Amino acid sequence: MSDAAKLVLGEKDAELGIRHGTIGPDVVDIAALYRDTGLFTYDPGFTSTASCESKITYIDGDEGVLLHRGYPIEQLAEKGDFLEICYLLLYGELPTQQERDDFIYRVTRHTMVHEQMTKFFSGFRRDAHPMAVMVGSVGALSAFYHDSTDITDPHQRMVASIRMVAKIPTLAAMAYKYHIGQPFVYPRNDLSYAENFLHMCFAVPCEPYQINPVLAKAMDRIFILHADHEQNASTSTVRLAGSSGANPFACIAAGVACLWGPAHGGANEAALNMLTEIGTKDRIPEFIARAKDKNDPFRLMGFGHRVYKNYDPRAKIMQQTCHEVLDELGLKDDPLLEVAMELEHIALNDPYFIEKKLYPNVDFYSGITLKALGFPTTMFTVLFAVARTVGWIAQWKEMIEDPQQRIGRPRQLYTGAPQRDYLSLDDRS
Ligand code: SDX
Repeated sequence: MSDAAKLVLGEKDAELGIRHGTIGPDVVDIAALYRDTGLFTYDPGFTSTASCESKITYIDGDEGVLLHRGYPIEQLAEKGDFLEICYLLLYGELPTQQERDDFIYRVTRHTMVHEQMTKFFSGFRRDAHPMAVMVGSVGALSAFYHDSTDITDPHQRMVASIRMVAKIPTLAAMAYKYHIGQPFVYPRNDLSYAENFLHMCFAVPCEPYQINPVLAKAMDRIFILHADHEQNASTSTVRLAGSSGANPFACIAAGVACLWGPAHGGANEAALNMLTEIGTKDRIPEFIARAKDKNDPFRLMGFGHRVYKNYDPRAKIMQQTCHEVLDELGLKDDPLLEVAMELEHIALNDPYFIEKKLYPNVDFYSGITLKALGFPTTMFTVLFAVARTVGWIAQWKEMIEDPQQRIGRPRQLYTGAPQRDYLSLDDRS
């Protein structure tokens, strides 16, 4: 591929540079297009637009490949653990033993939140959706940690990053405990990240909580699968919020808000609700027909993806994890799993889904697994937010540390009224 492109515009042409990445599509640099031609480009869903340069994650949607700093997700999920992948996403390399120990020490000792935060929770209704509580409580961190909100100070950026990774599971567990009317459980420094999260969610003061190592390993792997995913909607939200200089806690709160949507991180909750509504295998054809009906807004939740036009590699690992958890808990005959596997089989052999390249995504099997772990569906997207916080922070850090960084300010195609004069009340029809 050459290093230049020409845009032929009749009376004048535009010379545009082409930039090449390590792998993946080249990009046409249009930064000077408006200055040179008076034209904007138009791509409202960003289907063909690269919003930034990044070194963190790469997806090949046609091949179903997902790399974090060059390492395939399959290898990271099998051989790594979540905090190790957090280090990799934040700093670009897998940690040495000493780097790993130091990182784990620092994260572990930032897991408590300011005690005043408990008062903040008590302002919410108990039946508030936990994601509403998360948007509020994550944003509220800005009100407690003024000593790590100066984004121009590398030390404060590092402290804020560690605090976000460390405190998000504590806030998520508090949102769950508040939702079910149980007392908050403090983090424990003798537990791993996933063990600590399960303990804060499911321990009660009346008896010791036994960590199940199979379930803790599954929880850790679920965090790994959801950690980062290029410039998805919520990550792009965090980047845009951060480009104005907003503090990192406020930017992550914006990411939580965007993730909540059923087309994005809310799909795991919607997928389980869909499987529950289908109920039995004999009702699957009815829902497949609805998903194909242009006049029916229904979509198969947990299916399809803007980038993956092949099987989401995370979905395969998620399915394996689902079987491990159900086997461990003696639930392998879970009717929801039977419906999910039959639905997947039918959809993958249906011409509509084949032609549109619709495959299961990470959200298709996660709901069954999380339900089996003991979480209510309202907590599913909260767990997604716990995992994705490190991806948001890593992408935010990469943007802030980019010397070319400017405030993001898209333009538009205006199709509204041309300029006109004010009409007095008597002149209005
Ligand atoms: C996540 O971006 C990321 O990386 C996100 C994520 C991450 O890790 O951050 O991977 C996490 O959000 C996964 C996606 C979770 N969402 C869902 O499972 C919701 C159901 N899926 C769809 O809403 C949809 O597939 C999207 C939102 C995921 C993708 O939407 P696109 O790329 O805008 O595709 P589209 O809506 O233009 O659909 C293309 C065609 C359409 O038909 P036509 O208009 O061309 O005739 O495919 C159809 C759609 O009707 N289609 C579906 C479908 N998804 C797309 N038809 C039935 N069921 C579906 N699930």
